[in-house]
Amino acid sequence: MNRLIFFMLVTATYYGVNEACKENKIVIRNRLGPGEILKYHCRSKKIDLGVLYLDYNATRIITLKDEGINITKWNCLFKHGPPHMQFYSEIPVYSQNTLAPQCDQLRAWFFRRSVILFTNDYNNPAGPKYRWSRS
Ligand SMILES: *[C@@H]1O[C@H](CO)[C@@H](O)[C@H](O)[C@H]1NC(C)=O
Ligand SMILES: *[C@@H]1O[C@H](CO)[C@@H](O)[C@H](O)[C@H]1NC(C)=O
Repeated sequence: MNRLIFFMLVTATYYGVNEACKENKIVIRNRLGPGEILKYHCRSKKIDLGVLYLDYNATRIITLKDEGINITKWNCLFKHGPPHMQFYSEIPVYSQNTLAPQCDQLRAWFFRRSVILFTNDYNNPAGPKYRWSRS
């Protein structure tokens, strides 16, 4: 009887915590300038989103869950620039912080022509993090 109650409590707690666990987000925003297209290709170990494009001012949000033991990592290759996307930056856009999965993590990236800005905090503005290379 006691064991059953204990089991039920643990189960309830587990599902309670799980429901409250907000998904993690990678935010990608094109701030390059009017008419400028951001090309991006994002991958994790399990998922390849393929080559995609974002218009100026558009935002793409990739939601994900930390997988635990199999540390969740996402990498994206970003490109821009007429005439042939000669500016590029390969960025580790998301990496699980701890072995234990975490919730409500933010990795927000803002792409300007001069610099790539980043924040992982909803309450703090993004600061310069990466620069573009030229092919
Ligand atoms: C892009 O966004 C900025 C700031 O949010 C705004 O001031 C500007 O008018 C927008 N431009 C276009 C072309 O949507
Ligand atoms: C961990 O990732 C590998 C592929 O990288 C996969 O084969 C394996 O099933 C994963 N393990 C778990 C527990 O998800």
